[in-house]
Parts: sequence; structure tokens; C-alpha cells
Amino acid sequence: MPMPFHKYAPYATVDLPDRTWPDVVLTSAPIWCSTDLRDGNQALVNPMDTHRKRRFFALLLELGFTEIEVGFPAASKADFDFVRTLVEEELVPDGVTIAVLTQARPELIERTFESIAGARRAIVHLYNSTSVAQRRVVFRLDKAGITELAVRGAEMCRRLADDDVRFQYSPESFHHTELDFALEICEAVADAWRPTREAPMIVNLPTTVEHFPPNVYADRIEWFARNFTRRDAAIISVHPHNDRGTAVATAELGLMAGAQRVEGTLFGNGERTGNVDLVTLALNLLTQGVDPGLDLSQLDDARRIVEECNELPVHPRHPWSGELVYTAFSGSHQDAIKKGMHAQQQQADDAVWDVPYLPIDPRDVGRTYEAIIRVNSQSGKGGVAYLLEDRYGLDLPRGLQVELAQKVQAVTDAEGGELSADEIYHLFRSAYLEVNAPYELAGYVHEASELGDHLTARLLDGGEPLELAGEGNGPIAALVHALAKGTGHAVHVLDYHEHATSVGEDAMAAAYVEADVDGDPVWGVAVHASIVTASLRAIVNALNRALLVRAEQATAARAFDTA
Ligand code: KIV
Ligand code: ZN
Repeated sequence: MPMPFHKYAPYATVDLPDRTWPDVVLTSAPIWCSTDLRDGNQALVNPMDTHRKRRFFALLLELGFTEIEVGFPAASKADFDFVRTLVEEELVPDGVTIAVLTQARPELIERTFESIAGARRAIVHLYNSTSVAQRRVVFRLDKAGITELAVRGAEMCRRLADDDVRFQYSPESFHHTELDFALEICEAVADAWRPTREAPMIVNLPTTVEHFPPNVYADRIEWFARNFTRRDAAIISVHPHNDRGTAVATAELGLMAGAQRVEGTLFGNGERTGNVDLVTLALNLLTQGVDPGLDLSQLDDARRIVEECNELPVHPRHPWSGELVYTAFSGSHQDAIKKGMHAQQQQADDAVWDVPYLPIDPRDVGRTYEAIIRVNSQSGKGGVAYLLEDRYGLDLPRGLQVELAQKVQAVTDAEGGELSADEIYHLFRSAYLEVNAPYELAGYVHEASELGDHLTARLLDGGEPLELAGEGNGPIAALVHALAKGTGHAVHVLDYHEHATSVGEDAMAAAYVEADVDGDPVWGVAVHASIVTASLRAIVNALNRALLVRAEQATAARAFDTA
């Protein structure tokens, strides 16, 4: 059945062929105004009590907000009391201005001014709805009537205000207001307030309900800014809601079009689909090399406080702040991250960050690198290898990575879910390092001379002592020779890698050997304080593993025969 699309009207565009905003690149942060304690709070199932509001307010100060809308005091006693607490307990530091919202109605304006009596600085934010629909169905007033309402409110504010009060006006539902009328009513309010360059008013142009794409909003902002008479005496502010899911883009394009200030909330709480998320906006700037003007370096702590105060979770995939956004599960992403992290670590500390799939260095927002790669059934060798290297200092050769990743995948396929770094390490230990039978290298004497190397090895074979001796070009070759003579097993080294796993006094060495044992290729691994011991043990490990694989194959074949 077709959807009832005929019920809805398309948006109008702005005739602005010489628009300039598409070429603008943002190079500085706007003035940030948090509306968490007002717009955000209005949208909560369980509005914040004083304790939660104070906690939220303290967080906003810590993050560096200098403008904070703290409530709608004439509409709610809780908001009124909170504003009084802030004023009376002098909780607003120097350099921070609180804002209070009021409708353009005399009794509300009066009560609003009562709430800020004695405040060192405050913004009185006056609004009335100007949209076509609200004029018709809510106010039943024409444009002149709506303008008169705004101007009367503005005049009253001017009468009641002292020098510590700044003014803000919002033509609410700006999105659904004819552009020329929005300009006209803002001009009329400005005439009442007579702002100056030194004491500018804030003209806030909200997308109260987002109804058209961000480019149309940007056209409206550019048009408005060009035509507003007192442009030098006004700070143009945007206040996007997220009904279409494009609030962030709306804010960004609004700024490109000339706005200087953004109102929004942390992580995007707010009416319906929320206010614009200021954290996303700020971190978007960070990724472009622009100082975001907010301290988001402990983002998880901030998120937890906001979740507790709002009693709402932040989605794990929320831009920049969700629990999972710096984590890759897929093999190809993990491989690229592993290589990218390695390349980045080779660079100077102040090098530009350029790691595939990680547009922000997780450390810049207070994350560790622990969670950037997590391993499940979709992961590959890159992820497994990254975790072993990152957590255990083991830099596995490629062939061994592939083999181990297959073992990891067998487990994740069978059991579902994910394997932690510890679980992968335990799998690695039991599949390689702990295969110590039947042969164990109990001791050796290695002598090197110009003629070659001589090795005497004391092995345990199923617990029984076994003395071997051999010669070769290096200790590994000498042991291989000794094993051939003393055990009858032919071991040929195909590939060999070694590296230090740590530095300093407790430095350890890891040795990896790919060997052909009696015709079967197999990996052997050992870790020891001495590199020679590690490499000899890796050879013995390869032999043990070859024998184990053979025994397992024989058992499987017998089981098959009897089945
Ligand atoms: O969304 C909106 O229009 C508002 C106004 C009161 C500014 O919150
Ligand atoms: Zn709003």
C-alpha cells in the first residue's frame, strides 16, 4: 500500500543564487550555549531534581561552557528555585553567563526577572512562536498582532533589566515562518532593545521542528544575516532540533552561513529527536584541526554523568562518544588499524593523526587503545595479532597469525560472541607455548668456534633423560643435527623470527620457527630471557607440535574407521 505522501507539503527554497556559504571552511569554534538544563530537561520523562541539575551544571562548567541556559523559571517552580540557588549561592563563576527563557507574556517576564534578581550576569531569552500554523491555530493573530506581542515583551524586558542583563530573542518555529516575516519581527524586537556592537543582542533562529534539509537552512541564515539591519550589533545563533536527523549538519551549515553561536545539548537530548549534539559538533571541529573550545578529554566520564542526570542512555554507536565507536570487529578494518597504528607510532608525537577507521585518536577523548580492536567471528588475523602485540608484546609472523586466527575463529564460530585479549593469549599458550611433550629441553652447552657451532643438549623424552650432540652453522643448525641423530626426526627450518618482548632488566625474547618436521610444516614458539634458549626451545616446540598433530590425526582417523 502506498504511503500517504500527498498529505505533506514540500519545503520552499530561498532565492539566493550568489550564496557564499558552500565555500566557507570553519576555522574557529562558535560560542557554545548548553540548553541541557532547559530544553533538554523539558524533554525528560523524569525532569531533573536540584541535585541532578547541580551535578549537570558543574559538569558544564568543567567542560568549559561560558553560556548555560539554566531553565524556564516562570514555567516551573523547580526551575525558578534552581536559578535562585545559582544566584544566592553564587555558583556561577566569573566568565560564565546563565540564560533564562521566557515567553513574551508580561506575567512570565516579570517572574523571570524575579528569578535572576541579584545575578551578576544573565541573558534573558525572550521568544514567541511566529510560524504560519501557530499564528493561525494557537494565537489566532495576524503578523502585526504577533509582532506587537514580541515588541511589548521586548520593551518590558528593557524596562526591567539592569546593565548586567543581555537580551536574546527567538522567533520560535523559525523553520515554519516566512523568511521576510522572521526578519521583520527580529528587526522590530531589535528596535525595542537598541543593541550596540559593545552590547549586542542574540538573535536565535531555531529549527524548532526540523522540516527541510540543512542547505535550505544555510540559505536562510545567509539571507537573514545579509539583510538584518543591526548585523554588527547582533550575535546570530542557531538552535537546531533533530527531527530529520540532520541537526548536526544544520548547525554546521548555519555556522558556514554566518551564525556565530550554537545552542544544543550534550549527546543530543531534547524535545522529540533531540537538540543538536554539541559534543559531536565540537569533536567534528577537532577532527579538522580546529580548537573545539570545550574540554572533552574525559568524554566517558561526561557521558556517564549525563546518562545519570538525564536517566537516558547514550547509544553505543553515538558519534564520537558511544561505547563502540572506536572499536573494530571486522578483519579488514582491524588489519588497516593495526598497520595504521604502527605507522602512526613511528611518527613524531605532533604528527597529524592519520589512522584508517579511527578519525580521532581515542586517547584524545580519554579512551585507551584497549578497545579499538575486539575479536569475534568476523575478525581476522590483523585483530588477533594486534591484541597479542598490544597486550603481550608478541609480534607474530604473518604465517603464524593466519594459523592462530583460524584457531580463534573456530572458537568464535562454535561459541559465538567475542574473545578477549586474555582468552586469545590463553588459546595461544595452550596451542603453542604449553606443548612441552614428549621432548623438553632441560639444558644445553653451546660452543661456537671459527669451524662452526657445537651443541650438547640435555632433553627429557617423556620424562626420561636423553643426551644429544650435534654440529652446525649456529646453535639452531646444531640442535637440528642433534635431533636428527638422537631422535630420528628430520627437522628443516623454513622460517625464523625473533624479537624482544619487553625492555629493561626483565627483558624477554620470543622466537618463532616455521619448520618442516618429517615432511609436515609446523610452527614452534618459545619465550625466554635468553634469545638462544628461546630459539632452541622453539625448535623443540615445533617438533612436539608436529608429533601432537600427527597423534591427533591418527586418533581422528581411528574414530572415523570405527564409526
Ligand atoms: O526549539 C525552540 O524553538 C526553542 C525555543 C524556545 C528557542 O527551544
Ligand atoms: Zn528547542
